[in-house]
Amino acid sequence: MMIPPFISIDPATRRVSLDASNPAFYGNPNAAYAALHAHCPTFYWEEQKQWFFTGYDHVNALLRDRRFGRQILHIASREELGLPEPDQHVANFDLAERFSLLELEPPEHTRLRTLVNRAFVSRHVEKMKPELAELADTLIDTFEKSGEVELLSAFADIIPVTMIARMIGIPEEMGPQLLKWSHAYIRMYLFGRTRADEDGADKAAKEFSDYVKTVIAERRANPQDDLLTHMIHTEHKGQYLTEDELVSTTIVLLNAGHEATVHQIGNSVRMILDSGLDPAALFKDEATTERTVEETLRICAPVHIFQRWALEPVEIDGISFRRGDKVSLILAAANLDPAKFTDPLTFTPGRNEAPNLSFGAGIHFCIGAPLARLELNVVLPILFERLPGLKIAKTPKVKDVYHFHGLDRLDLSWATK
Ligand code: HEM
Repeated sequence: MMIPPFISIDPATRRVSLDASNPAFYGNPNAAYAALHAHCPTFYWEEQKQWFFTGYDHVNALLRDRRFGRQILHIASREELGLPEPDQHVANFDLAERFSLLELEPPEHTRLRTLVNRAFVSRHVEKMKPELAELADTLIDTFEKSGEVELLSAFADIIPVTMIARMIGIPEEMGPQLLKWSHAYIRMYLFGRTRADEDGADKAAKEFSDYVKTVIAERRANPQDDLLTHMIHTEHKGQYLTEDELVSTTIVLLNAGHEATVHQIGNSVRMILDSGLDPAALFKDEATTERTVEETLRICAPVHIFQRWALEPVEIDGISFRRGDKVSLILAAANLDPAKFTDPLTFTPGRNEAPNLSFGAGIHFCIGAPLARLELNVVLPILFERLPGLKIAKTPKVKDVYHFHGLDRLDLSWATK
């Protein structure tokens, strides 16, 4: 296995040096992941100063391992862990995250997830199918005759935010503003974020939270048949969601609810067109469509890395972790493990191998997976059916936002009648 020139791997010490901001890497991370699988699937990433796992079995097991958590401050103080005090300039961001499902561990996580799940039931998701198809059709109507489109701005950006806003009960005209807040907010999760990113994220968190509070007050006064009203009234064993929990949950649903799905619409279309496979066969019926969508989720996932804290001393793959150490799991690399997938870098819908790990596993498994899957399964076949002969007009560039994986733009063209 060739090691790409931009990555240096020392299998003896399991040390890897790799600049995540190098376009040669983030433009095609799968090549680096293949080299890591071949030479050093568990490695210490010098630049990130942390251990990373790429093996499918390790990532899958670690996601479910209760000796690891997404949070550690529920069992240890900052002082004990040698962590700095929280930065005041991101206080609004921290407050918005305080009750994010992604930042909690049991028992708080269990309580909140049960309550949110009760409101976020599949009937809310399934019933969106017709309006999702209608939205895709309406958007395609606007560019079908022109024979060309930049797909992300005209299609991919709009669908997930519109659907999640409708589902939560946020007025649709807020879509562009939600996108702005969300783009600023998620810059906090980037490798190598700057002070400007932090200030921008904090400002967005404040404005976003203030806005969500006004909608909550409005729904308390005027209940509707939407997720926010359900979350306000949902009850389990005499418990309700508090105001802060409602704000955090709404924000995490709105953010997580579209960023990854936007990227994935673009990644999938590109992958399908690059593969040279016949879209008519890939989207022949619901079963083939589902296999196509799952294979795109495996081979070009939109979010590559999630982290865990070691909650107690633990040894994994010969590496000893102390309580308070952080580890990183490269989900997108686990999906390419040659021990699980034959010819892993090849797009082969219908492979009957391991499930992809793109939505995680265990207690934090993506609560929005049914919605994201529905969106992909509904809009992709419509797009390919309505625009026969679709092709890539300009080689797309991958966004410089590792560890997210999405395109800057996707210029497409097709023959018009
Ligand atoms: C293709 C699109 C998506 C991908 C690849 C994705 C991926 C993930 C992953 C990997 C996790 C687990 C993180 C961890 O274990 O640390 C997660 C959690 C989560 N996702 Fe998604 N997601 C997507 C779409 C969505 C949508 C549409 C929503 C909301 C409607 C959503 C809401 C959430 C929430 C709230 C969590 C936290 C769950 C918990 O901690 O209990 N995601 N997502």
